Amino acid sequence: MTSKPILFAAVGTTLLAIAGCASLPSSADLDREALALIKASFRDQGIAKVDRLNQDLGQSACSSDKPPSDAVAERVMNDARAAVKWPAGNQYIGDWREGEKIAQNGRGMTWTDNSTAPSANGGSCYNCHQIDKAEISYGTIGPSLHHYGKNRGVTDPASALSLPIVQYTWSKIYNGKTYNACSNMPRFGHMGLLDETQMKHLMALLLDPKSPVNQ
Ligand code: HEC
Repeated sequence: MTSKPILFAAVGTTLLAIAGCASLPSSADLDREALALIKASFRDQGIAKVDRLNQDLGQSACSSDKPPSDAVAERVMNDARAAVKWPAGNQYIGDWREGEKIAQNGRGMTWTDNSTAPSANGGSCYNCHQIDKAEISYGTIGPSLHHYGKNRGVTDPASALSLPIVQYTWSKIYNGKTYNACSNMPRFGHMGLLDETQMKHLMALLLDPKSPVNQ
């Protein structure tokens, strides 16, 4: 309890100091100061490096108090689409059982992990999505992916008819910004968080008619 009055006093003093200034700092100034403060309070530790705070266009365009202009949003999406790496031999579908394990696994990329190799990482898909109905613990930041393939009429994910939805799904998992400039989804392929084989297993989880997701 003792820390609270001190905190309020500190906030109060800061507000008075700001109110007392002839001109308030601009939003860009505040962003710069906040970034400097954040950078100063982190250090490289194990595989987690401070350079993670450096934003690319897709991140900086979506971190402002205003959404990006249509032109910038288009550029972010076009750049993302142009950089998608498609799987060898147009083989998109792996094993849904493996996909479920990857979707369940939220491990990886923290300073206590030893490796940045995708094989050390999970997809943490359930953190944001409902997927298999059997899993009752899931986040709701993203839309439900239950019946993902079934709802889209996918009966044979290897058929030419399914190719547009298959390629859309691959793009979203590779980099959510392909079709939504300010997507909140981690860019699994683009950032090297998951490899091609892991992505194929997740594709099977969502699109294979035999996957429990589509029952
Ligand atoms: C941090 C939250 C988060 C995580 C983790 C996450 N997603 Fe998403 N995902 C979203 C959000 C938010 C959307 C909707 C907005 C958008 O399109 O980007 C989305 C959209 C999608 C879509 C498109 C759905 C549609 O109907 O168009 C697919 C497919 C998808 N996610 C698959 C996955 C898979 C597979 C994983 C795990 C490898 C995953 N997501 C992990 C947040 C997340």
